[in-house]
Amino acid sequence: MSDRVRTERADLDAEFPALGEPVDLVWASASLHHLADPARVLGEVFAALRPGGVLAVAELDSFPRFLPDDLGFGRPGLEERCRDLLARKRAEHLPHISADWAEPVAGAGFTAVAHRTVDVDLPAPLPAVARRYAEVTLRRMRPFLDASLDEADVAALGELLDSDGPGALRNRDDLTVRATRTFLAARRP
Ligand SMILES: C[S@@+](CC[C@H](N)C(=O)[O-])C[C@H]1O[C@@H](n2cnc3c(N)ncnc32)[C@H](O)[C@@H]1O
Repeated sequence: MSDRVRTERADLDAEFPALGEPVDLVWASASLHHLADPARVLGEVFAALRPGGVLAVAELDSFPRFLPDDLGFGRPGLEERCRDLLARKRAEHLPHISADWAEPVAGAGFTAVAHRTVDVDLPAPLPAVARRYAEVTLRRMRPFLDASLDEADVAALGELLDSDGPGALRNRDDLTVRATRTFLAARRP
């Protein structure tokens, strides 16, 4: 595909890149909720597409759940406490994360083609790659969580992420992945 695909680095909060010619497809995966003004960018996406061109959006409304309520150490409910803290932080920094995306997409002039919400529910025991996903996700949040949780929960998080004992994330066979994803396809008339 290298002769047909090139990358372009752009801050969509600043300016939509000049693409030269109208495009067939715009694919936005887990990115619209990061934008300061998604409605404005959707208008620019509309303008960038050729008539008949398609916009595909994948979005999420919160972080996945991975952990059992009782880890076997620490206080039960660690993940819920982490999620509460993260939700408050998100509300400050990512105000659009729980948006109903159908509304701004239609507002930009698109015609709806499909709109689906998918519940992801991978049961335990997870394959190695899904355990790794849980680990990467929690590690990414860790600096914020370490600064926000109480001492006992920080220690429990350390037990999960730093130890190599039976309670460590990488060795657990009771992890799951529970999440919701929204998919939307729309067409420029
Ligand atoms: C959660 S990641 C999703 C990554 C990937 N698309 C996926 O689905 O796995 C959010 C993405 O939004 C992009 N993003 C955030 N703010 C942006 C902005 N102002 N302009 C362009 N891209 C932005 C980030 O670079 C990042 O790649």
